[in-house]
Amino acid sequence: MTKFNSCNVLILGSGGREHAIAWKIKQSPILNKLYVAPGNSGTSTFAKNISVNIANYESVKKIILTENIGLLIIGPEDPLVNGLHDQLEQDAEIIDLIIIGPKKEGAMLEGSKSFAKKFMQKYNIPTASFKSFKAKDYQKAVDYLYQIKAPYVIKADGLAAGKGVVICNTMKEAESVIKEMTTEKRFGNAGNKIVIEEFLDGIELSMFILTDGENYKIFPAAKDYKRIGEGDTGLNTGGMGAISPVPFLDKVLRKKIENTIIIPTIRGLKKERIEYQGFIFFGLINVQNKPYVIEYNTRLGDPETQVIMPRIKSDLLKLLISIDNVSKFKKQDIIITKQIAATIILTSGGYPETYEKGHIIKGLQKVSESIVFHAGVKINESEHITNGGRVLAITSMDNSLDLAINKSYKNIRKIKFQDMYFRKDIGQDVL
Ligand code: AMP
Ligand code: GLY
Repeated sequence: MTKFNSCNVLILGSGGREHAIAWKIKQSPILNKLYVAPGNSGTSTFAKNISVNIANYESVKKIILTENIGLLIIGPEDPLVNGLHDQLEQDAEIIDLIIIGPKKEGAMLEGSKSFAKKFMQKYNIPTASFKSFKAKDYQKAVDYLYQIKAPYVIKADGLAAGKGVVICNTMKEAESVIKEMTTEKRFGNAGNKIVIEEFLDGIELSMFILTDGENYKIFPAAKDYKRIGEGDTGLNTGGMGAISPVPFLDKVLRKKIENTIIIPTIRGLKKERIEYQGFIFFGLINVQNKPYVIEYNTRLGDPETQVIMPRIKSDLLKLLISIDNVSKFKKQDIIITKQIAATIILTSGGYPETYEKGHIIKGLQKVSESIVFHAGVKINESEHITNGGRVLAITSMDNSLDLAINKSYKNIRKIKFQDMYFRKDIGQDVL
């Protein structure tokens, strides 16, 4: 079975992002069988879910061998940062597997903020000025606050599920955050180092590329809504909604991002001899028409993927399997629809803090003209039950942002579960 004609695919992860990737891959004419591990109630309707702990190497390896997997897509960041790709590559029993997702070294761009900042500094990639400190140098970090101005941006170095960034308006607050991260270990080992950086005031957007370490394809850009409250207030979440394209991303800004950020990043990886095969997600902020990198992620975003996938018209699987063949990869086009996509996340009340699970979700069958991507949902005796903080993503497409957003909100009115919450202002800031 040649990969280019027919391919078995395994996607790792269980969120709305993985549902959206699977939904797109499912449409490929060259797909043979599609597996998702562990997957969710959404992927179970059209792919085979395999219930394993993806942090367990032997479990993942077993699926790859027994199901004759040709392409592996690693959805979330943890397996990347923990070196799953490296392990598979070094395993003599795994042959001919194409892996989407970088090895451990490349994943450091996401896994260590100080590594990412030093990389950007070295390759002149615009980013906020910063200093990094080891946890034991807690006092030096506090002293550094006197050299900079408020607001203070304090970041735990390691992975913290999107919660490791705190912006403080006063020095007192900043001091206690530094203490919490370094000595009280609020984010566990992620706080073994911290980064303190200059506050940038601008508008955020996200760009995504797929790269083989040399060439790259630019995916649709997106804007996500990270805070829990309307008007971007309250606690940070994994993301409460997203839109694509980004209305203010014009040709000029796009070229600037490509020339000052994307190309230097690929060049830097090459210079550092870091082989990279997978997605890079550039978290950007546009400050008076100059784009800066806020963060790198080495995977796709959630919920950005829920607006990116529906906008890709070309065959994603064909593009992905060409990644380890330079001449094929170069020739692939990614065709993107002009239609606008918006997604709104429905959460369990209380999220991102404590929330209840186990509530029955009603009305899903009444949704029309929108795509429902599942995240924290499980099926119990044919009923959909809430099973996480972010429960569903309701994605709609239309000829204008306004129409796309309204379509999602119209469908949301048909969906009900106890303490259901969603932001009512997704996209309003750019309309
Ligand atoms: P991160 O996890 O690094 O993406 O940071 C989470 C959020 O914190 C970002 O989406 C920004 O809204 C904000 N943020 C991070 N770094 C900065 C910065 N240097 N200046 C202003 N806001 C920032
Ligand atoms: N939505 C932001 C992320 O996936 O990190």
